[in-house]
Amino acid sequence: MENVNIKIEGKIYSVPSNLSILEAARKCGYRIPSLCAWKNNECSLASCRVCLVEVRTARGGRLVASCVYPVADCQAEKGFEIFVSSQMAVDARRASVELLLSNHSKNCQQCVKNGECELLEVARIVGARDGVFAGEKTPTTIDEMAPGIVRDTSKCILCGRCVEKCKSVQGIGILGFQNRGFKTIVGPAFNRSFANTPCLQCGQCIEVCPTGALAEHREIDKVDAAFKSGKYVIVQTAPAVRAAIAEEFGHKIGEQDGTGKMVAALHRMGFYRVFDTNFAADLTIMEESQELLNRITKGGVLPQITSCSPGWINYLEYFYPELIPNVSTCKSPHEMEGAIIKSYFAKAHNIDSKDIYVVSIMPCTAKKYEKERKENAAVENLPDVDAVLTTRELAVMIRRAGLDWDLLPDEEFDNDLLGEYTGAGVIFGVTGGVMEAALRTAYHTLTGKEYEAIDFKACRGLEGVKEAEVEINGSKIKVAITSGMKNAKVLLEQIKAGNSPYAFIEVMGCPGGCINGGGQPFVKPTLLKGEGADILDTYRAKRANILYKIDEGKAIRQSHNNPDIKKIYADFLGEPCGELSEKLLHTSYNANRERFPEKK
Ligand code: FES
Repeated sequence: MENVNIKIEGKIYSVPSNLSILEAARKCGYRIPSLCAWKNNECSLASCRVCLVEVRTARGGRLVASCVYPVADCQAEKGFEIFVSSQMAVDARRASVELLLSNHSKNCQQCVKNGECELLEVARIVGARDGVFAGEKTPTTIDEMAPGIVRDTSKCILCGRCVEKCKSVQGIGILGFQNRGFKTIVGPAFNRSFANTPCLQCGQCIEVCPTGALAEHREIDKVDAAFKSGKYVIVQTAPAVRAAIAEEFGHKIGEQDGTGKMVAALHRMGFYRVFDTNFAADLTIMEESQELLNRITKGGVLPQITSCSPGWINYLEYFYPELIPNVSTCKSPHEMEGAIIKSYFAKAHNIDSKDIYVVSIMPCTAKKYEKERKENAAVENLPDVDAVLTTRELAVMIRRAGLDWDLLPDEEFDNDLLGEYTGAGVIFGVTGGVMEAALRTAYHTLTGKEYEAIDFKACRGLEGVKEAEVEINGSKIKVAITSGMKNAKVLLEQIKAGNSPYAFIEVMGCPGGCINGGGQPFVKPTLLKGEGADILDTYRAKRANILYKIDEGKAIRQSHNNPDIKKIYADFLGEPCGELSEKLLHTSYNANRERFPEKK
């Protein structure tokens, strides 16, 4: 890309010619506030106007939205000069923010984004004053009926980031702008509840919302009630949570593996047992690899598609029900773990399953719905999992308990029947991880040998669609990995057309996999200091690296070598895909899916 010379505040800088003024100014040391622009400023509806700068040309000065206005060579376009700090620009940016604030709910202390609100940060930067434009307000809609996501339009600033994410990344398009003037809102068509739409509950819209207009449906109160009821409250944590929880306590993305401190915090909060969902990830691999081998050797439906991601399962049931026979019947790992806790663990400790309350800490909002599926109630019709908290909710509980993250020691998960996990289990949290873990075990099952180059590197990386080929016993098996529903669509259409070359496909609902789930700590794309806007492209990789490092450091890295997994099959389950495994660990899907049950 060729460079051009631009002039900012009288100084000349050389910058790539394809940049917007906002991006170019950032490279020259200016931080112009922005809200609606995100994803390296590729996506911007230029709706918020907080990035206004003054551009002067031979024809005079005027205000432009710097996020969408391209740079111009100051010699070629005579007199083209950018002013970030002229009175005109400074006043305009402040007025834009004051206008947004005038229509914004002010209950900041109760807001889920308290301390992390991008609007408040921008207000601080521009020196916004209170009550300057007091007057009419947009009527408020609060939608709390869906299991995973809550929408509060009183906090919406109409930036459109959620609209873009749902449409251009997930390929769904549930959200859109409606009405005009003061009645303008963002929401599902006809301002319906999320519960009455084919929303995946993936929470990717929450991840990009700059305010608290979109948030997870919180379940902390339910967990508090379970503690008060005297039940055995047992907690499990997903692999991706440890890769991001430290961000909630001031650590940079990818800086700290939070496993030990998180376990210490959960112990101090009084959970009866603190288990790692990684154990059940190993169990999933045993079941899923056996299911794949059964399909290959017995002429079953291929390609087999993974089933760990509930956002993907929602997408399947709504948009591709004809592909249900391709999808593994394995429950997702936390559902398996819940069923095992309420059967195997309960029996070993002589506890009535009804007295056990299982809490899952997940990076995912869709799992809040998954736990309510009637198909996921293996033991005495009890739900396998009783409550799902996001990584963010866990952080709320840790702070509320008066714990100081940095002072907490590192502690181990409870080693009580479900204690051991392998490196294969931990990489479930990143796109390609399930496939890599499954290949390690499938190779062993088919050849009786361990795959020597244990890292299936072709499965790694954050591209939307990846493929790999493995040679097992002289046969080449082709596999594919995808994340984000827009990417998945390509592979699903291939299957529908009957020309999929793959035997096994991993699908994750969220781009990059669980490390980027809708329940993970907010990344706040417009507020990333020091590392530039392109951090959005790399933060998933930084979280993923934490999980790959844990995998590398584990003495046992294949699910089939986990001693606790061997023990549970020997003492309780029998064999993978056997009768008891099918009852406890497998599920079914609904080709005539209705909308989510409305919350009362
Ligand atoms: Fe430029 Fe919103 S108009 S960031």
